[in-house]
Amino acid sequence: MWSESGGQQSNSTKERRVNMSELISLFSTAVVKTNIGRDFTENELQFLLTDLPMLKDEHRRMTHHQSESFNIFDNYAIELKDIKTFCEHELKRYLENIEGVHSDIVNLCITQSWLNIIEPQGSHYLHNHKNSHLSGVLYISCLPNDSIQFSNPDRIYDATLKLPKKKDTEFNTTGAAVSVKEGDFIIFPSQTLHQVGVNETKDKQRVSLSFDTWPTHIPSLYPPFKLKVDVTAGDMRIVGSPIL
Ligand SMILES: [Fe+2]
Repeated sequence: MWSESGGQQSNSTKERRVNMSELISLFSTAVVKTNIGRDFTENELQFLLTDLPMLKDEHRRMTHHQSESFNIFDNYAIELKDIKTFCEHELKRYLENIEGVHSDIVNLCITQSWLNIIEPQGSHYLHNHKNSHLSGVLYISCLPNDSIQFSNPDRIYDATLKLPKKKDTEFNTTGAAVSVKEGDFIIFPSQTLHQVGVNETKDKQRVSLSFDTWPTHIPSLYPPFKLKVDVTAGDMRIVGSPIL
């Protein structure tokens, strides 16, 4: 709490001032978690857990597999039709409600989509998603007490001042874990660093469907200029005016 100056103040005056303190949190990162609101169908689970071809390298004993296709929403449009519709609907809600974007003018299209399977002892290292605006993850199969961990690079790498910490607060923490279960769906800004901890079960897979996005078009912030040549008395000037 804020320090008080002036040793003559009574305790009640100090309490009133402390109670009047207002904490203002500036510029936080919006991670939205929702749930698909239904069980996955038998056909969806058969496709995602069994039929979808996965990249596996038995020699390297990989414990984190990704689908061969990085465009599963388009390449398997029939199998994933309802899931894609749900994801697109939630993307639009994020764009409108969190970013306040006029979605009749600009929307987001899904640029790539893929499946992740993390086997026992597998994990996913700290990373973010390049060339993407928002990213989404739908959880198909989760582990007990499953989560995704987000990290704040400003607080990880900016170690110019490291004071002894008595407690974690919203303003000193280097990361935050978001708990997830089957059917949960999260959307986050793609540049946000995130990772997945070690699958410490003996025989359970963690299965998630991820995707990246990009705006359908990016409007110019400035009106384009048309050039007029104005020649007067041997003088030539180029005059710019906005095209309205
Ligand atoms: Fe990721």
